[in-house]
Amino acid sequence: MASNNSSVLAFYDTHPISETQILEKLAADGVDLATLTEDILQDYDQDHFGGVQANDALARAGGVNSDSLVLDVCCGLGGPARYFGQKFGCRVEGVDMTASRVEGAKRLTELAGLSDRVSFTCGNALDLPFADNRFDVLISQEAFCHIPDKPTLVAECVRSVRPGGRIAFTDILATGETTPETRQRLTAEMTFNELATAAEYRDLFTAQNCEVLGVDDLGSEWRDILIDRLAMYRSLGDQTVRRFGQAHFDKWDRAYSFFVGCYGTGELSGGRFSVQRLT
Ligand SMILES: C[S@@+](CC[C@H](N)C(=O)[O-])C[C@H]1O[C@@H](n2cnc3c(N)ncnc32)[C@H](O)[C@@H]1O
Repeated sequence: MASNNSSVLAFYDTHPISETQILEKLAADGVDLATLTEDILQDYDQDHFGGVQANDALARAGGVNSDSLVLDVCCGLGGPARYFGQKFGCRVEGVDMTASRVEGAKRLTELAGLSDRVSFTCGNALDLPFADNRFDVLISQEAFCHIPDKPTLVAECVRSVRPGGRIAFTDILATGETTPETRQRLTAEMTFNELATAAEYRDLFTAQNCEVLGVDDLGSEWRDILIDRLAMYRSLGDQTVRRFGQAHFDKWDRAYSFFVGCYGTGELSGGRFSVQRLT
């Protein structure tokens, strides 16, 4: 478990998208940080597939409104948490294991003037640092793939929302085509420590006394988005080489190209889940 955690921390501490990269891009575009608002920042800080439209779809799946207390599990740099806080006026708490992400999330939220309703904590999704039944809605985007022990993860998510509350998340999914070699390579190179299928998630939530309200198949949508994302990471090549070196960029490019290719071969898919805790 410790080595799983340290490989994820190393992966995100050397990720091409970071607080530094976001601030450099804002400066290059002539944005004065003294006047930064969420309306501007949301074009720079969404580290998931599909940008703010994906946030809107997740909000619908979670039934988020202005009264919701929302938990974003594996919140990264906090882009979705800030977006929800601004758009719905709700309170959002984010939790992430990577300290550099959490510190970056706090600073970006301060800059966007949203610290009164959006806050962040460093913690592990397998042992969420929150009381039982605390949240109305739990969200997460493309992060559970990093987390081994899905039964514990699902139990922790369910424990943290109130009975009647919702869990809305997206994740990278295994399919019937995913070979053991591909799983092994994605673990080694992308720190995807455990990939579940849509059916496995359904069973795990049902076993925790939840109803799965809907699952959207995102495989073909993500196949196209990921081709653009690979191009975006390549466009950040100079910055990535400057910060982490050519060997790191080459390793990243090989790993991400392989990951994107798995959508072409049908070895990977994606899903958006809407789940309700019953009791
Ligand atoms: C793809 S990023 C999330 C991006 C974020 N959801 C967004 O849309 O901007 C995945 C995040 O999961 C976090 N993570 C991975 N394993 C975790 C765990 N066991 N507990 C908490 N956070 C974890 C990583 O630190 C990373 O920030």
